[in-house]
Amino acid sequence: MRAFTFENATKIYFGGGCVKEHLLEAVKPYGETVMLAYGGGSIKTNGIYQEVMDVLKLAGKQVIEFSGIMPNPTYSKVMEGKKVVQENQVDLILAVGGGSVMDCSKAISMAAATDKDVWEEYWIKKGEIDFEPVPVGVIVTVVGTGSEVNGEGVITHEEQKIKTSRNYPRCNPVFAMMDPKYTYTVSPLQTAAGGFDMLSHVMETYFSAPDEDNLSDAISEALMRSIIANLPVAIREPENYEARSNLMWASTMAEIGIIKLGKQCDFEAHMIEHQMGAYTDCNHGMGLGVIHPAYYRRICRDGIKKFVKFAVNVWGMSPDGGDEEELAFGGIDALQAFIHEIGLPGTLRELGITDQSLLKTIADSCIRNDGGYRQLTHAEILDILEECY
Ligand code: NZQ
Ligand code: ZN
Repeated sequence: MRAFTFENATKIYFGGGCVKEHLLEAVKPYGETVMLAYGGGSIKTNGIYQEVMDVLKLAGKQVIEFSGIMPNPTYSKVMEGKKVVQENQVDLILAVGGGSVMDCSKAISMAAATDKDVWEEYWIKKGEIDFEPVPVGVIVTVVGTGSEVNGEGVITHEEQKIKTSRNYPRCNPVFAMMDPKYTYTVSPLQTAAGGFDMLSHVMETYFSAPDEDNLSDAISEALMRSIIANLPVAIREPENYEARSNLMWASTMAEIGIIKLGKQCDFEAHMIEHQMGAYTDCNHGMGLGVIHPAYYRRICRDGIKKFVKFAVNVWGMSPDGGDEEELAFGGIDALQAFIHEIGLPGTLRELGITDQSLLKTIADSCIRNDGGYRQLTHAEILDILEECY
C-alpha cells in the first residue's frame, strides 16, 4: 500500500426510516433558516418532501425553498442559489435529491460565502478555501454518485462548455441521510444509470496502480460483485429493500475515499463523459456505459494482468484454458453484456447524441488524466467516440 492520510467529515445516518428518526437531531445545531434545495419535483410526488417538511416544522425552522435544480447542474443555477442564500441569511442548506442537487448545493455553499469568482478560483483552478462554506446536509433520493460523502461538486459552465469538479473536503456534507426506501420510485433506467455510475467509480479506481495484491483492490472486487448482483434485482423489483440498500451503500463506499487509499486512480472515462455532458447534456451514468467498454478495449493490453483479474475475480471466468488476452477481453465483453442486460444505451446515437460533427470538439476539450494504464491522446479519445457513435 502507498502512504495516505484519510479523513471524512460527513456523519452518516443509514436505513429505513432514518430521516423520520434522526433529521430533527441533525438539524438542531444549525440556525433558524434552512434552504431546502431540490430538483424537478419527484420529491413532491413520492412523499419525501412532506416527510422532510414535517420534521423541519417540528424543529421550528424557517424554510426557504430552492427548487428546479436540473440534472447536470449549471453554474447559472449555482449563482441563483447564491443569491437566495445571501438574501435570506441561510444557516443550513438541506439538499434533498441525487448527485445534481447535492453538487449544486455544495457549489452554492461555497459561492454564497465568498466574494471571489468561484468558478475561476475553485473549478478552473484548484484554490485554497480560506472561508467557511455554508453547511450542507443531504438526504439522498437517488444513488450512484456518492456525492453525499465527498466534497465534490460537478458543475457545468454552459457558456464555456466545461463540466468539471474538484474535491474540497471542506465542502463535505455535515450529515448524509440515506433511506433505501426513498429510492423505490427511481425509474428502472435511472436505477441502471446510477448503478453503472457506481460501478464506473470502482472500475476507474481499480484499473490503476498498484497492481500487486492490496486491500483497496480486494474491497473494490467485492463492491463490483455486489453491484452486479443487486442492480438487476432493483431494476426488476424496485421495492426490494435488500437490493436497494446494498446499492445505496455500494454507491457511498465507491466514493467515500476508502477504496482510493493507496491507489493512483484513473477516471479518464469520467473526463470523456463530462465533456459529452457539457456539449449534449447527456445523462452521466448512461454516458459512462457507452464509453467504458471501448475505452477498456483500447487500454487493455497496457494493464493486461489487471484485466485478467477483473475477468476472473469479478465476472467469475475460469482462469484455466484460454490465454491471457482472451480472458482479459472476455471480461470486457462480460461488462458490455451487463450494460445491455440492465437496459442502458450501447452507442452515442442510442444515448441521443446525433450530431457526429460534435465529436472532435468534445474529444479536444477532454482533460487527459495520467493515472490509468496509458494516457490517451486527443486523437485516441476521438477514435473512441467515433467507435461508440
Ligand atoms: O429532479 P427530480 O424531479 O428530483 O428527478 C430526478 C432526476 O430527474 C430523479 N430522481 C431523484 N430521486 C428520485 C428521482 N425520481 C424518482 N424517485 C426518486 N426518489 O432522478 C433524476 C436524476 O437525478 P440526478 O441527481 O441528476 O442523478 P445523479 O444522482 O446520477 O447525479 C448526476 C450528477 O452528479 C454528477 C454527474 O456528473 C451529474 O451531474 N456526479 C457527481 C459526483 C460527485 N459529486 O461525487 C461524481 C459523479 O461521478 C458524477 O460526475
Ligand atoms: Zn460518476
